Amino acid sequence: MGSKTTFISGWLLIFITSALAIRDFEPVAPSSRSEDHIHIDEGWLRVRLNHFDASNTETFPMRYLFNGRFARLYDADILIFVGGEWAISDGWLRTGLAFELARDIEAGLFYTEHRYYGETWPTANTASSELRYLTVDQALGDLAQFIQYVKSDDFERGRYKNGKVGLVGCSYAGSMATWMKLAYPHLVDAVFSDSGPLHAQEDFPEYLEVITEALRSQGGEECVASIAEAVERMTAMLEQPAGATTISNLFNTCTQIQASVPLDVATFFWYGITETFAYLVQYATPGDIPDACRVITDTSVPDAVQRLANWITSHPWPQPCIETRYTEVVAAHTNTSFRAPDVTMRLWTYQTCVEYGWYQTTSSDRHPFLNAVPLEYFHQMCKDFFGVNFNEELLRSGIARTNHFFAGLTFLPDNVVSVAGGLDPWSPMGPNVTHATPLAPVYVVPNVSHCRAIRPTGENETLELEAAKQSVITHMRAFLGRPIPPPAAEAPALVPAFTLIILAGLLTLGRA
Ligand SMILES: *[C@@H]1O[C@H](CO)[C@@H](O)[C@H](O)[C@H]1NC(C)=O
Repeated sequence: MGSKTTFISGWLLIFITSALAIRDFEPVAPSSRSEDHIHIDEGWLRVRLNHFDASNTETFPMRYLFNGRFARLYDADILIFVGGEWAISDGWLRTGLAFELARDIEAGLFYTEHRYYGETWPTANTASSELRYLTVDQALGDLAQFIQYVKSDDFERGRYKNGKVGLVGCSYAGSMATWMKLAYPHLVDAVFSDSGPLHAQEDFPEYLEVITEALRSQGGEECVASIAEAVERMTAMLEQPAGATTISNLFNTCTQIQASVPLDVATFFWYGITETFAYLVQYATPGDIPDACRVITDTSVPDAVQRLANWITSHPWPQPCIETRYTEVVAAHTNTSFRAPDVTMRLWTYQTCVEYGWYQTTSSDRHPFLNAVPLEYFHQMCKDFFGVNFNEELLRSGIARTNHFFAGLTFLPDNVVSVAGGLDPWSPMGPNVTHATPLAPVYVVPNVSHCRAIRPTGENETLELEAAKQSVITHMRAFLGRPIPPPAAEAPALVPAFTLIILAGLLTLGRA
């Protein structure tokens, strides 16, 4: 193999390992050629480093993008597409449900970047001691300061001073949007949260259960059975050196799997297998899951392990090789430069270690992955990435604190509309119809995955999704004080009008 090839695969590996962290990239906005010409502004606002210590006056520049094209000249409303654990970019200011709503109500459309992610760097690096300001409370404080700024005379001469404020977010940014309404009700009038988990939980085996349900319902029982057979065979094979070599070759691991090192085996199953399925299901569009299952159950290949390997190595995510060395994973995630390729995954992992857990383990038995990825794997990761005091005790007290502060699923604030995807593996941590209230409706949309409802109307992915998007727009308009006038042709609207006319006529008659 020439040095050029080595160089290219090395580069690909860097690109892919950072992207493999499936929770950490911006939801991909559909391309919208018709709106390409819209000018998007970039701005920076100095916000407090620590919103909860009045004696600390340090600040840092927070990045935001905005599309002011639809905003009324004065008293314009403010719609914020909330940034989560990713770098923000223009796409969602040119298309999507928030974009359509902004156009409809003549609001300014903003996109805020979460502290520490993208180019919003509050500290010099990401050493553990520097990450103490990476909490959702601080990130909500940034949003509060941002809203106050946009509503002040300092921003476009008070153009948004008397506007109402709506937030739109998906995934963790959806959780943030809901929590903003809880923490700063005086600053937020309306919230749309798509796929936002609200209940923090250390062990999250439900994630792989939903993945399995999705594979079963869209790919058939034989798809799940084939995966189970493969994983069982692989577990047995890994007990023999020859078997480990075979698996390493079949799955194209970067180096031979060290089957005697449990952390390496867990790394193989997590990075190589469960994350690949997670990526498939979490971002599935119609047809993706059946396509995958066709390869996994292709009877022209008799060996279940071979079939699984065929799919994993051909997955649209072109992995040059699967990393199985835990020490390499640790090395990549302990680089404390903001420019390190895996910085996003490092930052999100930190948030899970101190606030959420949400570890997608195999600890239940309602999935085909045996116990390939145990909870201890993630406990070890917290300690190895951030230091020995990031232990289970700290994790558990952090999770309890998150649920104490934000109420988990026991309270939904008013004027929040939520959407959950029936195939979204995050949905067990988010609200469903049993949590809904008259002022906090929840739409559970069957057969759709993560973050599909923030997309533009008219995509017609499913009829139910399209209907949910319309309901979201109706609720958001109402929460923002813009109820949709009933269409003129509708009889119920005419009856009161008629009655009034007749009454007015009678009164006039009476007076005469
Ligand atoms: C950390 O990442 C930066 C940016 O990619 C790189 O320049 C640096 O060499 C890395 N440091 C280590 C110790 O690998």
